[in-house]
Amino acid sequence: MPQVLPSLLSADFARLADELARCAAAGATAVHLDVMDAHFVPNLTLGPPVISCIRKATKLKLDVHLMMSDPMRYAEDFRKAGSDLITIHVEAVGQRRMEAAIAGLRALGCQVGLAFNPDTDPRLWFKWFDQVDLVMFMTVYPGFGGQAFIPEVRDYVRATRARFPKLPIQVDGGINRETIPTIVADGADRLICGNAFFHDPDPAAFLRWAEGVGR
Ligand code: DX5
Ligand code: ZN
Repeated sequence: MPQVLPSLLSADFARLADELARCAAAGATAVHLDVMDAHFVPNLTLGPPVISCIRKATKLKLDVHLMMSDPMRYAEDFRKAGSDLITIHVEAVGQRRMEAAIAGLRALGCQVGLAFNPDTDPRLWFKWFDQVDLVMFMTVYPGFGGQAFIPEVRDYVRATRARFPKLPIQVDGGINRETIPTIVADGADRLICGNAFFHDPDPAAFLRWAEGVGR
């Protein structure tokens, strides 16, 4: 069964506590937080101080997506702020530093995710997949909400699902009523939804529908 994680990037940042309550009331058990450093991606969002405040305002699990050039420099701060799961981009870390990065995140006691840009072939990174809690495929170029789903990424989702039947596969970007049935059929089981959740007239109904979509 797929799980929906609302992406707070599409929320009203002046009313974060209300928006978090709206996610919980709709039935979400976790929210996705997009951290952008204006270097790895051409946008700037939030950092550990805001995540600490979010942590105090909700019991929802915090799934933190670090779109940062040097994620390990700040990982401890993000963990201390209350992140339950920290996802780093393979493009930022590189093969050479991957082992240390995974060990570093494990030492912080959080769950670990690896994220892939749409043009990064995950097969070159399969050797790390047994060591992480999930992988996340960007189905848009990261940086902004509200972009169109890139269908070519479906091949990567299918290849990963074929090789790793039990690994949680998260997808992020342009995930909505139109794209969910296909990407779930491909093997994705954690759906990051920004606009599709927050701009739906009935987010609870959207979440129920999405979580009922079968493989
Ligand atoms: C984009 C972010 C996403 C974004 C998705 O770089 O990583 O999490 O919020 O937004 P939607 O669902 O609107 O495409
Ligand atoms: Zn994200």
